[in-house]
Amino acid sequence: MEIRQCRGIQGEVTVPGDKSISHRSVMFGAIAQGTTEVTNFLRGADCLSTISCFRKLGIEIEERPEKIVVHGRGLYGLSAPSQVLDAGNSGTTTRLISGILAGQDFSCTLTGDASIQKRPMNRVIEPLSRMGADIKSERGNGCAPLLINGRPLCGIDYVSPVASAQVKSAVLLAGLYAKGQTRVTEPALSRNHTELMLAGFGADLKSCGNTAALTPGQPLYGQSVAVPGDISSAAYFLAAGLIVPHSEVLVRNVGINPTRAGILEVIRAMGGRLTVLNERLCAGEPVADLLVSSSSLTGTTVEKALIPALIDELPVIAVMAAFAHGTTVIRDAAELKVKESDRIRTVTEGLRAMGADVTPTEDGMIICGGRPLHGAFVDSYLDHRIAMSFAVAALAADGSTRIKNADCVRISYPGFYEDLERLSR
Ligand code: S3P
Repeated sequence: MEIRQCRGIQGEVTVPGDKSISHRSVMFGAIAQGTTEVTNFLRGADCLSTISCFRKLGIEIEERPEKIVVHGRGLYGLSAPSQVLDAGNSGTTTRLISGILAGQDFSCTLTGDASIQKRPMNRVIEPLSRMGADIKSERGNGCAPLLINGRPLCGIDYVSPVASAQVKSAVLLAGLYAKGQTRVTEPALSRNHTELMLAGFGADLKSCGNTAALTPGQPLYGQSVAVPGDISSAAYFLAAGLIVPHSEVLVRNVGINPTRAGILEVIRAMGGRLTVLNERLCAGEPVADLLVSSSSLTGTTVEKALIPALIDELPVIAVMAAFAHGTTVIRDAAELKVKESDRIRTVTEGLRAMGADVTPTEDGMIICGGRPLHGAFVDSYLDHRIAMSFAVAALAADGSTRIKNADCVRISYPGFYEDLERLSR
């Protein structure tokens, strides 16, 4: 993919549905009684992997033009798959489905692509095993393929060492099948879609601070889910609108759940011109339209409890920082190393190739902004968020940039380059 510097980003865009909520709508719909209808479902490769896994578990899922319809079979309605379950590139599919499969009365094998087979799964194997689950990493390296022998489970009080919604969700989902209450406490609050949605489907789930407590025994019932636009996808247009001169962009229908919307705080701290319009509720989640325009940004520090609320946006925040005056410090973000790529390494490599001053650290990076960036040949390392972040940097850099392995954007935003091109002047 070749992207040239542009004169401005102008117009309106409606980004695709939220990836986290789309995954959960299919998973929870599958184990609920009755049908779940999902509008604005993200038809990206990751969420299609979730659909494919649940079809192999005996769930009928219709992909109609206007909605997805999941014919749920209740908590005990899944059937043993005759094939290996393939989660593709999706960490959310792999980790959340592990929690569901741990408590079934059948065995199965769960795997994914080369990237998934390198990502840490001990973070779910360990707490699920404590609940009585029988899960093994086939190669003994703590990664997929996972052999899961469903077994009766017991609730636990789990204090997680990482603020991870995938870990929290896996344990809570296993808790649906366990004897007694399951509690998960995290060091900082990660995205809370599982808590909000499972309660909406009928589970007895209560949250207090960084702890979520699930008491099993309640059936889940199918729901209508209207998926808000994904703030993680909106982030690329917000960043482009801020760093490209002569820009004004309106991103419509974006989910701004506080556990996801940390990037808005960072934009404000950097002095970005951002207006939040038409705030409203959509399927229990706050939604708004976001308006940004070209701004003179300043460096900032991004750290501590804010990190989980913008973890997937850190690559594009690093891009904004490269175009800001002064230094930006990103810390407490070691989780970046275990995403679809090691994002500390891949962001540093690409931004340095474009002329930025970036120093990687153990848990983040330091970016001295303000150096003029130039087009370069950069590699996404098959990481969708890296490809989209470099595409944004390319719009504001001198000359032209070529992105290797650019079509991985299909994971979360299949029409990304088309939308970007439509707004580019
Ligand atoms: C997600 C949780 C986050 C995030 C991922 C989606 C989810 O991962 O990075 O893109 O839907 O629960 P972690 O739980 O590993 O932080």
